[in-house]
Amino acid sequence: MIKGIGTDLADIQFFEQCLNDNKTSVIQETFTAQEITTSERGPVPTAHRLAGRFAVKEAFFKAISQTMLHQNRKINVIAKEIEVCVDHIGRPYLSLHGQMDLIAREMGIKNIHVSISHEKGYALGFVILEG
Ligand SMILES: CC(C)(COP(=O)(O)OP(=O)(O)OC[C@H]1O[C@@H](n2cnc3c(N)ncnc32)[C@H](O)[C@@H]1OP(=O)(O)O)[C@@H](O)C(=O)NCCC(=O)NCCS
Repeated sequence: MIKGIGTDLADIQFFEQCLNDNKTSVIQETFTAQEITTSERGPVPTAHRLAGRFAVKEAFFKAISQTMLHQNRKINVIAKEIEVCVDHIGRPYLSLHGQMDLIAREMGIKNIHVSISHEKGYALGFVILEG
């Protein structure tokens, strides 16, 4: 059963700017060390990959907020608790931590499907929650 879906577009230029201006605090508050390391690997520019990961974090929030609204519950999102990892062939998947992991368990989420795309100025994140 589908428990939630979410999608988001992120502006790649924003992350290019952060990297160029050495705004490491923005990057470090938003992404885990592993997300930063994997975004720096390979031929795709780092800003594209960070934007894609950010879009997934926002998409995940949209997907869970449908249920949160039903329950009249407010949550403070800690972006790093929604970690975008990659498997051995480059497919993204989510690893949840702390409060986000707890919420997902309470919602009875058994599977999280994630997809990323980037083209020109934008990166897209798409999330489906299955329970
Ligand atoms: C994997 C592939 C589909 C990515 O497509 P793309 O247009 O180059 O790039 P996009 O920006 O849309 O997507 C990139 C994201 O796809 C995801 N991705 C990479 N490999 C993947 C895979 N095997 N399965 C699912 N998602 C994958 C990653 O999250 C990546 O983002 P990241 O680098 O920030 O982690 C493409 O490189 C590929 O291998 N295509 C082969 C299929 C083919 O020959 N198609 C021809 C027409 S059918």
